[in-house]
Amino acid sequence: MSSPRVLVTGGSGFIGQHLVAHLRSEGVEVVVADKVPHPDPTVPCVGGDLCDPAVVERAVGPGTEVVYHLAAMTSVLGSVQRPQEVYETNVAMTAALLERARAVGVSHFVLASTNAVVGGGLNGADPATTAISETTPLRPLTPYGGTKAAGEMLASAYAGAYGMGTCAVRLTNIYGPGMGGKDSVIPRLMRAALSGGVLSIYGDGLQKRDYLHVSDAVQALLLAAKIPEPGPLVVGTGHSTSVLELLEAARQVTGRAIPATHVDPKPGEMAAVVVDTSRARSYGFQPTVELREGLAGTWADFQAREG
Ligand SMILES: NC(=O)c1ccc[n+]([C@@H]2O[C@H](COP(=O)([O-])OP(=O)(O)OC[C@H]3O[C@@H](n4cnc5c(N)ncnc54)[C@H](O)[C@@H]3O)[C@@H](O)[C@H]2O)c1
Repeated sequence: MSSPRVLVTGGSGFIGQHLVAHLRSEGVEVVVADKVPHPDPTVPCVGGDLCDPAVVERAVGPGTEVVYHLAAMTSVLGSVQRPQEVYETNVAMTAALLERARAVGVSHFVLASTNAVVGGGLNGADPATTAISETTPLRPLTPYGGTKAAGEMLASAYAGAYGMGTCAVRLTNIYGPGMGGKDSVIPRLMRAALSGGVLSIYGDGLQKRDYLHVSDAVQALLLAAKIPEPGPLVVGTGHSTSVLELLEAARQVTGRAIPATHVDPKPGEMAAVVVDTSRARSYGFQPTVELREGLAGTWADFQAREG
């Protein structure tokens, strides 16, 4: 039996490259669609902007069975500054991909989403002690979170109206090798460790996040394509760490002092993200990489590429 044909949008990005490598290691026939060429020239890649309908048509070719939709505008702060652009990229593009997927008979469509869809949905409950689950109401606080929530609704509609298997995987903060192009806290920590520069901590540094290794994020995305019931999937380690604790862990792992300074908090930042991953675990999701081990691998990667 031939392997299913799989499309990974955003397959040249940080998580996408890991997902593509994993699928190919299992013999899956993968096509990437991204406006940036894939660094491995042996990976079939439809180049171009997926906001262009012609690129969508080429990307979701006849015979495509599974779509992992990772292409997105991913900067939360950028989305606050450019709400129209994030709408075009994260909503209109997702709608066009779903519609093309319906036309060619795609069986599973996995959307990379985020817990930022919940934002203020805890309704005043303490976010440090109240875990976000799939039943937490959606109340995004930024255009990024809002557009991901809209994408989730569209995916749900395609499941309901057309029977497409869709799943929105709400990822926490993903980290690991290959994230040098990102501007989130772990790469900023690694760059400060390499250069001797100062880390800017937004606000008091007590904000908690759930840092999930990229290999575990890949595990969750693969699982999502096999879940029969529609609906979102909250994915993380289930353990949250403050920025100050993360800084201390990075100091130990890198052996560098990493001086830090506090700057103004960023608008729309959630005070804490603590997730309840019971649903994902009920399907067999099991994170495997502990934070210090993951940071050590990420540090080694930064040293090899930029040191
Ligand atoms: N990294 C995280 O911590 C995290 C957390 C939650 C959710 N997510 C989601 O996971 C997905 C992947 O994240 P990532 O960290 O790998 O991001 P990334 O920015 O590294 O990769 C995104 C890729 O999408 C491509 N892309 C963007 N707009 C495009 C367009 N219009 N046409 C074609 N290609 C386009 C980019 O070129 C890039 O290669 C995103 O949807 C993101 O919102 C990521």
